[in-house]
Amino acid sequence: MVSKAAEFDTVILGGTLIDGTGGPPRRADIALSGRRIAALGDPDLPAGATARHEIDARGLVVAPGFIDVHTHDDNAVLADPRMTAKVSQGVTTVIVGNCGVSLAPITDIDPPPPHNLLGGRSAYRFGDMAAYLGAVEAARPNVNVAALVGHGTLRLCTMNGQLGRAATAAEIDAMRAGLRAAMGAGAIGMSSGLFYKPSAAAPKEEVAAIAGVLAETGGLYVTHMRNEDDRLLESMRESFETAAEAGAPLVISHHKVCRPQNFGKSVQSLQAIERARQGQAVGLDAYPYTAGSTVLDPDWVDEQIRVMVTWSEPHPEATGRDLADIAGEWGCDLREAAERLHPAGAVYFQMDEADLRRILAYPQTMIGSDGLPHDEHPHPRLWGTFPRVLGHYSRDVGLFPLEVAVRKMSGLSAATFGLADRGEIRPGNFADIVLFDPHRVADAATFADPTRLSIGIERVLVNGALAFENGQAAADGHGQVIRRGQGGG
Ligand code: ZN
Ligand code: CU
Repeated sequence: MVSKAAEFDTVILGGTLIDGTGGPPRRADIALSGRRIAALGDPDLPAGATARHEIDARGLVVAPGFIDVHTHDDNAVLADPRMTAKVSQGVTTVIVGNCGVSLAPITDIDPPPPHNLLGGRSAYRFGDMAAYLGAVEAARPNVNVAALVGHGTLRLCTMNGQLGRAATAAEIDAMRAGLRAAMGAGAIGMSSGLFYKPSAAAPKEEVAAIAGVLAETGGLYVTHMRNEDDRLLESMRESFETAAEAGAPLVISHHKVCRPQNFGKSVQSLQAIERARQGQAVGLDAYPYTAGSTVLDPDWVDEQIRVMVTWSEPHPEATGRDLADIAGEWGCDLREAAERLHPAGAVYFQMDEADLRRILAYPQTMIGSDGLPHDEHPHPRLWGTFPRVLGHYSRDVGLFPLEVAVRKMSGLSAATFGLADRGEIRPGNFADIVLFDPHRVADAATFADPTRLSIGIERVLVNGALAFENGQAAADGHGQVIRRGQGGG
């Protein structure tokens, strides 16, 4: 109950509240004090409640700020702390360090693919997680940041360049120590990218032994699995076993089914998750597109799937063009074209809409963009993921109600990743809030024009402060580092 003389910093009046729990929309006013939510009106705040700022939310949905659980924003939050690509979608928290790739703890390397997705040599300047998180705090980004440690990064700093083999017992010990130190500094878990060359030679036993540290420290094991096409189901079994042996909750990253011969396997993959969940904690995330994106590797290209170049160091003029067209012009095959473009990045059109919808609709699926912020011509998921789920998949396609869409990008995400006091709108939680127009909200970014600002995201607050308004990100950010086991001050 709010006393009559209540004095708030901000009140949000007249909006429709979708609170992140999955519960139905309802009329409610919201009052903020400092960085937190102070009171909810039911539906109105008491007459006489006063505030320094009033936000008119009539006609708008008021929801918890979205949590982008799968990002590669490690360097982006430092290089451009306004984070326009994310706050313009209503995102207020990003989880960095995914797919085995984190900036800390390593310095002075020429990062091999996919570690170059975070930038070049100059990005890698953090000898430990404490230094990285301190730099994020100093940069004052517009979004909150929680960090995973990459198993691939631990390998890079431990194995003296011999990445094509399993780690020895001594190397495993060293990586365990590295993970323990990062967890002590506030990391929220470890990610792996067993699909990628720096980590592909790591057997399940190596990963489980390192991730075993998480049973002592807390934290999740998050994985870009070894395979997402012909050996998808085997890779899922490996992931369940790794997490179970380590004694850590599991999150399967960007769950998808690649290549036509595997289309439809999401029926079995989701059944496998459902079964595993009876004995262990398993979560998953997905992005709302049937194309993926990562580095361009000559080993992954063939006639079966369309490939579009997102950047190329030796051939920047190839950016945004199809690999097949480039190969045609050069009079060579796809593989040779990819080799000539290397180092480079690409979009791979390799999934089926029915699998995507089945995965998005699965109740445990969180939304994560997997956006690549340093790509010249990025996959549109970087700018469009969250409005696309709200507008296209929830409102237009009718895949699930709006309150379910919101839960997949807020309450479920905070609960799965253990982010305290976030993800739901209720008194005491941090005031991470998005106001959007449910009739207009839509993604505008396309594969041809991938950096267009989304539509219908009206206003975003991060820790009670304005982060986005009138199509513009705030110059002065109020994001915090979210350290494991710490609600924040
Ligand atoms: Zn990945
Ligand atoms: Cu990723």
